[in-house]
Amino acid sequence: MLPSQRALFDIPRDVCFLNAASWSPLPLAVQEAGRAAVGRKGQPWKLESNFQSQQYERARKAAAALIGADPADVALIPSVGYGVATAGKVMAIPRGSRVLVLQDDHTSPVLEWMSRAETGGYTVETVKQPADGDWTSAVLEAIERPGAAPLALVSISSVHWSDGGALDMPRIATAAKAKGAALLVDATHDAGVRRIDVKSLDPDFLIFPTYKWVLGPYGRAFMYVAKRRQTGVPLEQISASRKAVSAEDTVYFRDTSYVEGARRYDMGERDHFISLEMAAVGMEMMAGWGNDPIVARLSMLTDRLADGLANSGVRVIDKKLRAPHVLSLQFPQGMAQDLPKRLAAENVYAAPRLGRLRISPHVYNDEEDVDRFVETFKRVAR
Ligand SMILES: Cc1ncc(COP(=O)(O)O)c(C=O)c1O
Repeated sequence: MLPSQRALFDIPRDVCFLNAASWSPLPLAVQEAGRAAVGRKGQPWKLESNFQSQQYERARKAAAALIGADPADVALIPSVGYGVATAGKVMAIPRGSRVLVLQDDHTSPVLEWMSRAETGGYTVETVKQPADGDWTSAVLEAIERPGAAPLALVSISSVHWSDGGALDMPRIATAAKAKGAALLVDATHDAGVRRIDVKSLDPDFLIFPTYKWVLGPYGRAFMYVAKRRQTGVPLEQISASRKAVSAEDTVYFRDTSYVEGARRYDMGERDHFISLEMAAVGMEMMAGWGNDPIVARLSMLTDRLADGLANSGVRVIDKKLRAPHVLSLQFPQGMAQDLPKRLAAENVYAAPRLGRLRISPHVYNDEEDVDRFVETFKRVAR
């Protein structure tokens, strides 16, 4: 099990921050990378000509390492929504087919398909939130539903952001593939924590941002694109995705054919090296710790939370169905609206999410945080 990494962060002992699923604190090393990068932008004449490309290839490699991808299959993008919009442009959803999404999944893997459904002549089918927390069975049932329209796409998060349910993606990927459907995975609450191997999972797209679990800044996200989807038209038309469009050449539009690999989907202004270096450092830290030691630590913490909160009137998803790093408390009588505020007044931070209280520890949390949460919760939730 990974020991607590609190010393690598700037978190005072009296702060009990259990809200990484909203936004993680930046490790000191990531903050330092950001400060140094701002300084470099202050004196840009000192940069080597290959500086930017080294930066974005380092970040691409770090992102690829977290999901078992070849860096050539990873695009640099600014947000999950941007990646899904790219997928929406690249994939044709046949008329009369259906796209599966999860009930109350985050907007990013959902709204793209909803907004295209009417003109595209297909339906978006929502998998209802299962009462027993078993999202995997609910999705498999929806994939297999007899008499349903042909399945074109499954566009889902692999860990549900609000209830913390963990989906068994290998089983879902196999079932979707058997139906000839494409798979888009929003791995926002998964990449860097649970083990992901895109080579065996074989999704069409898998996307994650850096500002939550992989300890990076806003405005940076990464998109794995399967080779079979690497011939589409990118969302933006920029010089970087063309083979030879260079301001330093004597002919500007020398070769406008697209570059090979997922790079064709890279965002404009990908050279933003301040956030790129920060993103790379955070992802490299996560890779250095490794999935299994991280999962061991975070599941130890969420199990301890669940044990401590037993008999306090809240319900949680069964251990084998929930993510190791997200514990969402359900209140059969409803959650007091000001509960998160009352906790925050005691320097204890968790997030209200769709009527639940979402607790999401990360590598900087320890048993003291958990015990503090339990004690404070029992006192202020009364
Ligand atoms: C499941 C999920 N996907 C995506 C995002 C972020 O989406 P975007 O990068 O499009 O803002 C979040 C943020 O809360 C999320 O919880």
